[in-house]
Amino acid sequence: MLIRNRLSWKLFFRFVIWWIFFSCFPGLISSAEVTLDSIEIFNTHEWLLSPTVYFACKGENKTVLPDVTKKDVVYYFKGEESWQPLTELESKKCKRCGFYEEDTLKSDVFDEWEFCASDFNATGKYVLFKEKELNATLNCQDCKSLPAGATGSGFEVGDNENKTRVAIIVLIVLAVLILIIIVMVMAYKYWQKKKRQQDQARFLKLFEEGDDLDDELELSSSL
Ligand SMILES: *[C@@H]1O[C@H](CO)[C@@H](O)[C@H](O)[C@H]1NC(C)=O
Ligand SMILES: *[C@@H]1O[C@H](CO)[C@@H](O)[C@H](O)[C@H]1NC(C)=O
Ligand SMILES: *[C@@H]1O[C@H](CO)[C@@H](O)[C@H](O)[C@H]1NC(C)=O
Repeated sequence: MLIRNRLSWKLFFRFVIWWIFFSCFPGLISSAEVTLDSIEIFNTHEWLLSPTVYFACKGENKTVLPDVTKKDVVYYFKGEESWQPLTELESKKCKRCGFYEEDTLKSDVFDEWEFCASDFNATGKYVLFKEKELNATLNCQDCKSLPAGATGSGFEVGDNENKTRVAIIVLIVLAVLILIIIVMVMAYKYWQKKKRQQDQARFLKLFEEGDDLDDELELSSSL
């Protein structure tokens, strides 16, 4: 009973914390589109047919690059092609992504890597180069403004004013949480004390009843 109570308290606390977090920082949960600027492949793994090159992130759909069929040719894109954007990046988490070549048996890998918003430089570009395989330039204008894009701190919002505001919100949230916890602990302590008193009272009552019984017994035996 006590264990189950404690567990549900824990769940409740977690819920409260998440709720406070999300209601204070709704703007921090966002994503940024990544497009392909250019790509050049240096190698085809397919011998007979022209290759089918595609991009994919783990757990997401493939994006086939329909024009890329020859090696040693640089293909440039505007970022508005029907298959763009390649993918979307979210704030803190990196994704496992890669460029592959479709094959009848098993896809061949040009390159596979941990794709993070922090890979993009100040102009929103990221060059992926792997010798003998490929050279691709990826573009993500919003990645640098994603929260925690560069540092992973989770509370980086750009200018100082915003930082101060976030700090104040965090402090208030912490204060409220601490207050809630103190009240909870006090309530629990109080409940415990009350329960102990009740137990004691019941115990004493039991004794008194026992005494009464003894008295009666004595009384009846002396009669
Ligand atoms: C993946 O493709 C399927 C079928 O085309 C589609 O139903 C699904 O929504 C796609 N998933 C994502 C994450 O784009
Ligand atoms: C970002 O990367 C691109 C491509 O490599 C390069 O042309 C550009 O100068 C870089 N910008 C900065 C600010 O580093
Ligand atoms: C890779 O592609 C970019 C953009 O086309 C180009 O500026 C760069 O020189 C290329 N790098 C190599 C090593 O081919």
